[in-house]
Amino acid sequence: MNGVLSKDIQTVLLSREQIEKRVEEIAEAITRDYRGESVLMVGILRGAVVFFSELVKRVDLDVRFDFMVVSSYGSGTESGGEIRIVKDLSQPIEGMNVVIVEDIIDTGYTLKNLLRLLGTRNPKSLKIAALLDKPSRRKVPLEGDYVGFKVPNEFVVGYGLDYNEKYRNLPDICVLKPEVYS
Ligand code: PRP
Repeated sequence: MNGVLSKDIQTVLLSREQIEKRVEEIAEAITRDYRGESVLMVGILRGAVVFFSELVKRVDLDVRFDFMVVSSYGSGTESGGEIRIVKDLSQPIEGMNVVIVEDIIDTGYTLKNLLRLLGTRNPKSLKIAALLDKPSRRKVPLEGDYVGFKVPNEFVVGYGLDYNEKYRNLPDICVLKPEVYS
C-alpha cells in the first residue's frame, strides 16, 4: 500500500492480485472473441489508463490504440445525462472492431452517449470492456460486454479511479474513508 495515501483508506475492496487475475481473463475472452481480426481499443481518459495498459498487453491480437477524453456536465460525484467530448478519436473507425475501455460503469450516461456517438461512425463492431460495474447506480439501461467486477455503492478509488484527482496511482481498488469526502 502507498504509504502517503494509506491513511485515507478504509479497506482494500479488490487486491492487485485479484484484479490481475480478472484482467487476464478478460484479455483471454477478447482474444478468443476477435480471433483473426484486428481490434481498436479506445481508452477513456483518465480513469481507464491503468486498466487499459494492463489489459492491452495481454490481448494476443493485432491491437491498435486510441483515446478519448469526455467529461460529464454534472458536478461532484454525479454524472449528468449529457457528456462533452473534450478530445475525440484521432481516426475514423468505419469498418473497425472497436472496444471501449472504461474503469467503471456508474450511472451509464457516459457509455450510453459514447455508444450512440461511435455507433453513427459505422464501426464493424462496438463493445465495452469495463473493470468495475456499479449496477445499483444505473440511471440508463447499459451493460458492459466484458466486466471485471460488480461492486457495491461504495466510494472506490485506486487503479485509475480518483477522488478529486487523487488516489489514481494506488495499485489496489480501495474504499475511501467517508470523512475524506464528506
Ligand atoms: C468516470 C469514469 C467513467 C464515468 C462513469 O469518469 O471514468 O468515464 O465516470 O460514470 P457514468 O456511468 O455515471 O457516466 P470521470 O468523469 O470521473 O473522469 P475520469 O475518467 O477522468 O476519472
